Amino acid sequence: MAREDSLLSPVVEDVEELSLRPATLDEFVGQTRVKNRLRISVEAAQMEDRPLDHVLLSGPPGLGKTTLAGIIAAEMGSSMRITSGPALERPGDLAAILSNLEPSDVFFIDEIHRLPRTVEEVLYSAMEDFVIDVVLGKGPAAQSIRLDLPRFTLVGATTRKGTVTAPLRDRFGIEEKLDYYLDEELATIIKRSSGILDVRIDDEATHELARRSRSTPRIANRLLARVRDYALARADGSVTTSVAQTALEILEVDVLGLDKVDRDILEAIILKFDGGPVGLNTLAIAVGEEPETVEDAYEPFLLQVGLMQRTPRGRMATDSAYRHLDVDRSSDGTLF
Ligand SMILES: Nc1ncnc2c1ncn2[C@@H]1O[C@H](COP(=O)(O)OP(=O)(O)OP(=O)(O)O)[C@@H](O)[C@H]1O
Ligand SMILES: [Mg+2]
Repeated sequence: MAREDSLLSPVVEDVEELSLRPATLDEFVGQTRVKNRLRISVEAAQMEDRPLDHVLLSGPPGLGKTTLAGIIAAEMGSSMRITSGPALERPGDLAAILSNLEPSDVFFIDEIHRLPRTVEEVLYSAMEDFVIDVVLGKGPAAQSIRLDLPRFTLVGATTRKGTVTAPLRDRFGIEEKLDYYLDEELATIIKRSSGILDVRIDDEATHELARRSRSTPRIANRLLARVRDYALARADGSVTTSVAQTALEILEVDVLGLDKVDRDILEAIILKFDGGPVGLNTLAIAVGEEPETVEDAYEPFLLQVGLMQRTPRGRMATDSAYRHLDVDRSSDGTLF
């Protein structure tokens, strides 16, 4: 069972989150190299009055893939149509959207690694030659007709680039990977968001939130909103460092920014599997999450901050994880 109340979860695209989405490359904080390359490609496409090459965006949840897709459309002066891999069940679903696009539109497919194979195969010719072959009727009477499409830009997003098939990947002219953000960048994002949400927050508290945001903009914004709630309901409305710290304690976000699931994962490896190695599926069952959720949403950050290691035999907790959870490596593993 996935925990949809997790701070990391993309399920709740609430109104507040939408209002915080930057609309231009200039407003998009961090990822400087990615932005520079995209800006160059956008300008060149505009000079030649052609659509931008197809773009594949990868990286862990909440780092700005969907946001960037919207920005690409805005910078190109075109509109964006949004769907996701699992939503395109049959080739007909894809054909219906593609044939309704306007020239230069951005067609955004989220979770593109989850496209059904039959749909993916139709996408190949659409991306490469802007045509699709649609089969009308069934059995011996079936007829295939070729449909011309407007020249569009496909932007695909994925949390697992490794599972995007080679033929699909080859058809993207531009591939960009989003990385975790620096605390300074997260502080900038929190400042910007507090302006939009009209939250009073001082610099020290801003940096405290930034440090505890799992290097992820979505979490920075969520923490800001929840800490604001606490400040309104239990203090005088201003977010000071002590208000932030108390609110974060209630939210079960620790000093490294780990949430409850992060800690459950590390605790399971240490206490149930003796520090590891433990296989992904076994670990996922132990913490009550889907293996994909553990692998895509939680593990990348734990690896990034050096609390977990991936070995050919499975996942292991590092010395830092033992220290962070305050477990003595040589003891029987009791938590103090
Ligand atoms: N570079 C950035 N600057 C400012 N805000 C950002 C940036 N990147 C992301 N955000 C904020 O974080 C939120 C989450 O970003 P977004 O939805 O684009 O992530 P995502 O990579 O598509 O995640 P998922 O994989 O879960 O779909 C956005 O609402 C936006 O407000
Ligand atoms: Mg997204």
